[in-house]
Amino acid sequence: MIMDGNGRWANQRGRPRTAGHIAGARTVRQMVEHARRSQIRVLTLYAFSSDNWSRPQDEVDALMRLFRRHLAAETPKCQENDIRISVVGRRDRLSPELRRSIDAAEEATRECQSLHLRLAVDYSARDTMVRAAASVPPGVSMTREDFATLLASVNHDDGSAGDVDLLIRTGGEQRLSDFLLWECAYAELYFSRRMWPEFSTADFDAAVEDFRARDRRFGGLSRQVAAARA
Ligand code: FPP
Repeated sequence: MIMDGNGRWANQRGRPRTAGHIAGARTVRQMVEHARRSQIRVLTLYAFSSDNWSRPQDEVDALMRLFRRHLAAETPKCQENDIRISVVGRRDRLSPELRRSIDAAEEATRECQSLHLRLAVDYSARDTMVRAAASVPPGVSMTREDFATLLASVNHDDGSAGDVDLLIRTGGEQRLSDFLLWECAYAELYFSRRMWPEFSTADFDAAVEDFRARDRRFGGLSRQVAAARA
């Protein structure tokens, strides 16, 4: 999910952008609970892109505080509900306090299995690909699977999430904004005009319903895909 529209939602109400992020964090909680109930196995939320560092410092600071506070508050609840938390992206530019919260959340929920909740923080798909490609020794040939494993490893990711099935973006824009570019090769895209703070569980269900009706061919023919599944 690309959680877009927090700032506009706040501006429309004459409130500071950070109020939009705080409201957005409440939506995060609802969507995680709903994904768990809906038996979705992996949910990846784009929380902070590497290009978001260019925002005003007070907004960046507010977002980082919000991530830390929510990780600490939600970890016990995730443990209780069998939700594994992991954070994908660069860690070297995060504060030591946030890194410690991430480590604690990941460690405490490592064995949880019902839902894998992944937060993308300081994440850039392009940077990931550049770093992965740079780590391949000269002359080594790679399969797509090998390269996918390498991509995961540069992002503190165990690679278990695999490809994206459905990408949902709120806020009305219709673009990928450097999110999971490799993993979205055959993703179904769903764009909602709702701003993230007002995205509801009914909107989430509508996106999943829409996804279910898609004809996914992966470059082949429908009957081949059906035969492979049978
Ligand atoms: C995009 O909206 C949203 C972000 C850059 C931050 C996402 C953060 C949250 C939803 C808050 C909490 C998250 C967690 C994981 C606790 P925008 O600010 O770009 O909105 P705009 O396009 O309307 O300006």
